[in-house]
Order: sequence, then C-alpha cells, then structure tokens
Amino acid sequence: MGDESVPLWKPSKMIHQGAEATVFSGYWMGEKAIFKKRNHRSYRHPDLDRRLTRQRLSVEVRVLRKLHSTTVSSPSLFDVDIDEGWIILSEVEGVTLYESLLNGESNIEQIKKFGGLIRQLHELGISHGDLTTHNVMINDEGELTLIDFGLSKISPEIEHLGLDLQVLHECLNASHYEENSAIESMIDGYLSNSSDNIAPSGPDVIERFNSIRGRVRYHA
Ligand SMILES: Nc1ncnc2c1ncn2[C@@H]1O[C@H](COP(=O)(O)OP(=O)(O)OP(=O)(O)O)[C@@H](O)[C@H]1O
Ligand SMILES: [Mg+2]
Repeated sequence: MGDESVPLWKPSKMIHQGAEATVFSGYWMGEKAIFKKRNHRSYRHPDLDRRLTRQRLSVEVRVLRKLHSTTVSSPSLFDVDIDEGWIILSEVEGVTLYESLLNGESNIEQIKKFGGLIRQLHELGISHGDLTTHNVMINDEGELTLIDFGLSKISPEIEHLGLDLQVLHECLNASHYEENSAIESMIDGYLSNSSDNIAPSGPDVIERFNSIRGRVRYHA
C-alpha cells in the first residue's frame, strides 16, 4: 500500500482516492507525512498521460520550493520522483476548510482570512489553479495552509488570478453558502491584504473576477 519500494517511506493508511491522485498518510524518516501518487488515466494516451503527470508534479515542486521561504503556509517537500509520479510532503495538521465549514467549525471570518491568503499567494506571482475549499487546510488555531499546487502557474496572467477567485466562488456557492455573502467576505479579505505597488493590483484582479462572473452568468 502506497508503494513499499519508495525509500524511507512507511505507509499507514489511504486517506483520499481522487480522480487524479491517491493519497496515503504515513511516515517519512519518522516524520508524519503524506504520499501522493498520480493515477494513470487509461482514457489518455500513455505519452500524454506521462507528460501531464510530469508537468503537474514539477510545477507542484517549484511552487512548494518558492513558498518555503515565505509566510504563505504550505507543506514541506520531503521527496519526489517525477518519473514514477509521486511526491512525499509533510502532513498538515487539521482538516480541510471544506469539512470545517460543513461541521460548522469555520465561518465567514475564516473565509475573509482565506481571501487575504489568496492575495498573498498572488502577490508572490503564483496562481493556484484549483482553489476549492478541499485544497486549504485549517488547524485548531484557525491557521490556514494551502495544498495541491499541480495546476498552479508561476508568473500567471491576470485572467488566472481572476479564475482562482471564480473557482472559489463556485465552490462556496455550490457546497457551503446559497447567498453571495461568503464571496463578499473573501473579496474583503483579498482587498484589505493588497499592497498598492504590486501589479496587478487587488482592485484590478477583483474587476477581472467580476467580469469572469458576468461571462459565466451570461452563458449559463
Ligand atoms: N500535506 C497534506 N497534509 C494533510 N492532508 C493532505 C495533505 N495533502 C493532501 N492531503 C489530503 O488529501 C486530499 C487530496 O490531496 P490533493 O488535494 O493534494 O490531491 P488532488 O490532486 O486534489 O486529488 P484529486 O484531484 O484527484 O481529488 C486533500 O484534500 C487533503 O484532504
Ligand atoms: Mg485537491
């Protein structure tokens, strides 16, 4: 389970079987760790499948390395094998924001804080690419940690930043809130954490997000 052939890795249990990856918890050199292996997609041509796996893992590694020296909290990178399609990360304490909101342990305040964290990521020149409430963890102290950077972009265009907000907006409306109040808090957090001298500015990204929102509504 979780590959006995991987050096220094002691698996304990499977915690997630998703469309793209299977995730195990366990230990790496005695530290609590997560082993994530990309699944083969049989409907894709094997060459394309390998290329996508390599692409996603390598961007995940590059983003984690970039974030390591910043205040944006993310897992530590322990090991990776790009050809075999796996990565080992430090285990983040807590639960996903998704679970926390469902259980009523988190509220609109955490979403505002999440908005601020997204702006921090964007100011570092990184878009997330899959910004759902499944890809941010929250611990008992209410601290947020971002995970799952396989669809990130380094030096993104403003459209990618706006799309991050749109993905979160759709997730909040579909899974957590019927009204737009949550997204308003997210925007509030995003704008109040924006510096003036970093382009694209907070208001510019929100403007793009609003135009994406309008486009989506128009075509729906
Ligand atoms: N470092 C970590 N610490 C704790 N839990 C983690 C960590 N990384 C992943 N997880 C858990 O495993 C789940 C899936 O991981 P991740 O989001 O990285 O994979 P994924 O690419 O989204 O998989 P898929 O898209 O196929 O669902 C997360 O939602 C989270 O619950
Ligand atoms: Mg995920």
